[in-house]
Amino acid sequence: MRASDLIRFKQSGRTITMLTAWDALSASVVEEAGADIVLVGDSLAMVSLGHATTLPVTLEQMLLHTQAVCRGLSKPPSEQPLVITDLPFLSYQCGLDRAVAAAGHLLKHSCAGGVKLEGAEPEVVQVIERLVRMGIPVMGHLGLTPQSVHQLGYRRQAKDPVSQERLRLQASELEKAGCFAMVLEHVPEALAGHLRRDLAIPVIGIGAGQNCDGQVSVTADLLGLTPRQPPFSPARLEGRTLGIEALRCWLEEQRQPGADPTTAQPPPGSDC
Ligand code: KIV
Repeated sequence: MRASDLIRFKQSGRTITMLTAWDALSASVVEEAGADIVLVGDSLAMVSLGHATTLPVTLEQMLLHTQAVCRGLSKPPSEQPLVITDLPFLSYQCGLDRAVAAAGHLLKHSCAGGVKLEGAEPEVVQVIERLVRMGIPVMGHLGLTPQSVHQLGYRRQAKDPVSQERLRLQASELEKAGCFAMVLEHVPEALAGHLRRDLAIPVIGIGAGQNCDGQVSVTADLLGLTPRQPPFSPARLEGRTLGIEALRCWLEEQRQPGADPTTAQPPPGSDC
């Protein structure tokens, strides 16, 4: 799958699906589940590296995790999901040449087929134009942009008509600059619907309602593994509770005389 295939999906009304992965194991699960796109999101700073925000993750850490995700994919290359990797904070805000070098570094040394970056300030739009001219597919990201947490917090964005109009202009700027798709995070559903209609490129929503060309979710949230769930991303599984319970039972069993550590079944009489 290539970035350019996604426009065809939008035109034919096929919903685009994207899930995050942060290592080989999560990538293999996401691939097996059948996602169109695997996003190596900079949310891995929180999910995998234990940071409080996405800001601390470095370019080299993003590369390391993207390489692990690529190694976790096992389908034949033509059947593999598209891998998109996030450009981390300050890897694309400090000049065009540095942005091209950062994006090129990720694509050169991993299987990623494109990068994602946040915002639509004039400097960011220039970066997108340059990357696209250099042959690097770019996914935009508007609405709640976690790299701007110190300015915007994690609040729903574009709630009033003025900020909605601004976001519509920004989205059109990203399309003109050459983005092949964009993530729209935590904005009103009606606005997402307008953008989906106005833009030729796919709008992939998270916390933006059903009226999008596709949906993305942070896999650890969906599986209920993260200690704190974002309000717009409910868990589909009590993964953390189930996992802790399974581990607790196994540990308890091993403390019993004659326990078999290889059996998948709890011994008779166990309350696990
Ligand atoms: O980093 C990430 O996981 C993301 C998704 C929330 C879209 O950008």
